[in-house]
Amino acid sequence: MNADLVVVGSGLFGLTVAERAANELDLNVAIIDRRSHIGGNAYTENEEQTGIEVHRYGAHLFHTSNERVWDYVNRFTDFTDYVHRVYTRHQDEVFPMPINLGTINQFFRAAYSPAEARALIQEQAGELAGTDPQNLNDKGIQLIGRPLYEAFIKHYTGKQWQTDPKDLPASIINRLPVRYTYDNRYFNDKYEGLPVDGYTAWLERMADHPKIDVRLDTDFFDEGHDYSRSAVSGQVPVVYTGPVDRYFDYAEGDLSWRTIDLEQEVLPVEDFQGAPVMNYPDADVPFTRILEFRHFYPQRNYTKDATVIMREFSRFAEKGDEPYYPVNTSVDREKLLKYRDLARGEDNVLFGGRLGTYKYLDMHMAIGAALSMVDNKLKPHFTGGASIE
Ligand code: FDA
Repeated sequence: MNADLVVVGSGLFGLTVAERAANELDLNVAIIDRRSHIGGNAYTENEEQTGIEVHRYGAHLFHTSNERVWDYVNRFTDFTDYVHRVYTRHQDEVFPMPINLGTINQFFRAAYSPAEARALIQEQAGELAGTDPQNLNDKGIQLIGRPLYEAFIKHYTGKQWQTDPKDLPASIINRLPVRYTYDNRYFNDKYEGLPVDGYTAWLERMADHPKIDVRLDTDFFDEGHDYSRSAVSGQVPVVYTGPVDRYFDYAEGDLSWRTIDLEQEVLPVEDFQGAPVMNYPDADVPFTRILEFRHFYPQRNYTKDATVIMREFSRFAEKGDEPYYPVNTSVDREKLLKYRDLARGEDNVLFGGRLGTYKYLDMHMAIGAALSMVDNKLKPHFTGGASIE
């Protein structure tokens, strides 16, 4: 075996570890992925018929306020000046999201000032003032009042979870942002944009190093290759970014996830919805939102004859589905604590990333966490002989 380090999973966490290990620590790194492409869920590809760049695992918008992460990612790609904005279609009328003064005034057919709008929402939220909401429905009403909650949040959340919000724990939401200005920028971060030549070009550049050996279609748990679990065990340090419950053969039970079914369609029109993302918050529409990919890159000279859209249907994941968002029930949290104990006892293996820690991570968080792992665990091990645990 030539590798000094084996990285399981080529998502942004694994790629960051591999890139730093090769460039900063001068190590030979093998990075394996069971999929046939690198990049994990941030992977994109050009749709065959139209050439429009499609995000295969759902929309990925890069944003961060972390200076270190921003400097780091700019080594591999420039970013466009894309600013994410979302709209929502409620009862055949389109409103700006997140809920802002524009949404409120359109919804109530009014011209409230910021102070008037704030007073109105406070009054409506007062319906459940002083109570301790036990479910998501009551919590939503207490946060923003019944009218806005029922129009924009209730059924959208119900569809996301395939569960009536009355049966969901209040803890799923801490706050529902309402802006008392007309600002409808989706993210508040200092930096935002999309990689100029697309995600896959960025991700491939991270792995483009003579000391990084990328092996695709290679599952860590399958036998018969150089970097299988049994081949590397005890031989070489491993950074594992696959599902933590899978690593321990589900010994403490399955952790639960939500998944999304993505339905892609090419339509013979130049522009279907005039925006990259349209939410569908009503109960009678089965999907949660529609993406239209051409709007992520208005500067590109895409065909005018067709457009690519993707409908998102959310549901609980079963074995074999793509795990997307941790459900994180109290039972899951108990299991996770047990898996963490097991992980701590696993010599020479570090667990990281979204699946390895059972935590939803935005891209910038995955990259930031990977940089910390290199600083705090890998560097001391490879330069000072500290053990890996
Ligand atoms: P990631 O899941 O990307 O990669 C893990 C890799 O490990 C996969 O490629 C998998 O195949 C591989 N693997 C697992 N088990 C293996 C095994 N046994 N053997 C070999 N390989 C194995 N973030 C953001 O900043 N803005 C956004 O808009 C979005 N949008 C978004 C939408 C959706 C639907 C999701 C699910 C996620 C986002 N994200 C996001 C989050 C973003 O995708 C996230 O930050 C990265 O997935 C984290 O990277 P990881 O490397 O941790 O996991």
